[in-house]
Order: sequence, then C-alpha cells, then structure tokens
Amino acid sequence: MTTHADAELLALGQQYYLPVYRQRELVLQRGQGARVWDNQGREYIDLSAGIAVCGLGHNDPDLTAALIEQAGKLWHTSNIFHSEPPLRLAQELVEASRFASRAFLCNSGAEANEAAIKLVRLWASQQGRGPDRRVIVTFRGSFHGRTLATVTATAQPKYQQGYEPLPAGFRYVDFNDMAQLQAAMANDDVAAVMLEPVQGEGGVMPAAEGFLQQVRALCDQHGALLVLDEIQAGMGRTGTLFAHWQDQVKPDIVTLAKALGGGFPIGAMLAGPKVAEVMQFGAHGTTFGGNPLAAAVARVALRKLGSDAISHNVARQSAALRDRLQAINAELGLFEQLRGRGLMLGAVLAPAHAGRAGEILDLAAAQGVLLLQAGPDVLRFVPALNISDEELEHGLSRLHAALREFAGRS
Ligand SMILES: Cc1ncc(COP(=O)(O)O)c(C=O)c1O
Repeated sequence: MTTHADAELLALGQQYYLPVYRQRELVLQRGQGARVWDNQGREYIDLSAGIAVCGLGHNDPDLTAALIEQAGKLWHTSNIFHSEPPLRLAQELVEASRFASRAFLCNSGAEANEAAIKLVRLWASQQGRGPDRRVIVTFRGSFHGRTLATVTATAQPKYQQGYEPLPAGFRYVDFNDMAQLQAAMANDDVAAVMLEPVQGEGGVMPAAEGFLQQVRALCDQHGALLVLDEIQAGMGRTGTLFAHWQDQVKPDIVTLAKALGGGFPIGAMLAGPKVAEVMQFGAHGTTFGGNPLAAAVARVALRKLGSDAISHNVARQSAALRDRLQAINAELGLFEQLRGRGLMLGAVLAPAHAGRAGEILDLAAAQGVLLLQAGPDVLRFVPALNISDEELEHGLSRLHAALREFAGRS
C-alpha cells in the first residue's frame, strides 16, 4: 500500500531517474538482520539481501562500528598515499584466497571484471601474442557486468543489443559443455576462460560436478588463464568463503564485489602468481579503489564471512530452505527443479508457469517477503548468510501464502 508521501517519492524516481530500473513500489527505510521495514513501518523478510550483497544482513553491528570508526578518522587518500585499512585488506584477501599473490581494489563487480579482462590481455601481450590471440571464452547465460567489455563478456544478447560495436576478442560457448569448450580452444588463440562457479543472473545454474577441474586442465593444455567471477557466488554464499574451493581448482584470477562490502561498495581482483607482476606502475588504476571506509568495512565482512559459524549456518539454512520449498512444491506443484549451492538457490518454474516469476515476486512482497528472480522463469533465493531459523521460517510461511495465492490464480 502506498501512501501520499510514498507516492510523491515514487514520482521523483519516475521523473528524475534514468529509467533503467523497474523498482517495485516500495520505499524501504531501515533494516535489521534479515528484516527490512518500509516507510509505513511494514515489515518484510528479506530473502534477497540486496542481490546477494548484504551477506551479514542489514545493520550488522560490527560492520556499522567499523564504518563509524573509520568515518571519524579518514575518508579518502587517493592512491597517491597509503592508509592502513586497504593495506591490511589486501593482505587478508590474499592470505584467505589460498591462491593469490596480489590484490587490486576497486568499487564494483564490473570494475573488478574489467580489471581481469585487461590483465588477461596484458599478460597475453607480454607473451608476444598478437591481439587476435588474446581471445577470452565465456559462457552463455553468464553475467559479468555492464561496462562495454564486461557486457561483451556477458554472453546474453539482451544485455548487448544496441551497444554495438562491442569490443572484439570474446567467444561464447554453452555452460557445462566440455566438447564446445574444447572446440573453442582448438586454435590456441584463447588467452583465458572466464566463468561463474554458479551462474547467478543467468538462472542460478551451478557448474556441473568436475566441470571446473576439466576447464582448468584444458586451460593448462592450451596456455590459457582461468578467471573465476565470484562476485555473486563468493564470500561464503555457496558454503565456503570462495565458491571454487568446493571444485578443488586453483584459478589464476578471481573477482569479488557484492558481499565483500556487506552493502558498502567495493570490488577486488585477486591475481595468482602467473599474472601478479604483469601490471606495473601506470598500467591500471581507479580513484576510489581501496577507499579507507570501504576497506575498513570489508575487513570485518571478510573475517565474519569466512568464519565457521557462517559456513555452518549456510549449510543448515540451505537444507532448511530446500526442504521447505520441496514441501511447498509437493502441495502446489509450481516448480520443475530446485538448484544451486548453499544459500544461492533457484526454484525453476514449471513450463505451465513460465515467464511469471515477476508476478510471484509481487505477491510475495504483498505478503511481506522479498525475493528475486533470475530471468523470467526462476525464483532466486540469496538471503543473508547469518539468517536465523525464525527469520527463515517467517519468510517461508509468507512465501507459502503468496504461492498458494498464485496457484489459485493459475
Ligand atoms: C557474477 C556477477 N559478475 C559481475 C556482476 C556485476 O557487478 P556490479 O553490478 O557490482 O558491477 C554481477 C552483478 O550482478 C554478478 O552477479
């Protein structure tokens, strides 16, 4: 229900925002844990966590304290001078990663992936490879960002149409299709394979068992780098701090953002030994990268997201969420599949309900639970990783009511 005051705010968005988003008609005001409240004081269980960003929920006391403490000291230094938080964060990220030697700090996921793409190309050029032998292979259904290079890496035409000419040097294959990947690399003109361990925007689609290991072997065979985009799947979301730990591979580059700042904007590119010395003075940079406020928050987020308490909770709540969705489905028969890892789960709508995920999101919000879609056919669940039993239970009973209503309409 929108009041007069809300209507005025919504009108501002309609008049002044570049209309690239279609926000739901909700004006959120505050959050606590996995709950948020709108301007009318209505409470929602948030199973979206700001698109997998608020890994520790809203208003985590330790993140808030780190931000306030740093805000009273120093906000910004540029990269001309040092400050302590980003120096410590770089060390902590490298040590936590189990593969990286160096870190580049930036502000968003797209920027981290842009850095990775540039690093791959510079590495290949330093090996004496011409521009036509610096191809980056990505997978259909992927999502890597909205800058020109990352939208080109994103192998989904809907994000690219109208922005041509797109940068050259990208090649697409089907996800989890080893034969296609082999064929795409046969010419030895591929400098890197880039992928998400679990595709997020493309429908919550996990890499098949053993796929990452096969990709790693193929990269080694053809002298190519393995780049993992863990912007959505990383930072504890799939049950381990880095998603690829479960696949037992060592990547050359990993990109992070989203939950790394718990809601404060930050991104990072981690570079393994093969590429860590490739970019030297002047090769890359960004004004806000390593901002002390962001770094101070991210240090705390990294420590908490890497804790046993979080990985245990993710495993437990993942099982609870799956069980409950299966039970709901046994009653209503709306989904044809549940898939994903940890607290990154997708419920794929049965063909009879294809294209109607948005409708379900509206009904869910009306019942007091916020969730996401991943394309028109998949409900996406990416709640806070520290969500409590009680929060999850409340959210799912509200979802159950919304799904009953949906089933009644269908
Ligand atoms: C896997 C993945 N990579 C990259 C991005 C882009 O991140 P950002 O929106 O911070 O630029 C996203 C955002 O949804 C993502 O899910």
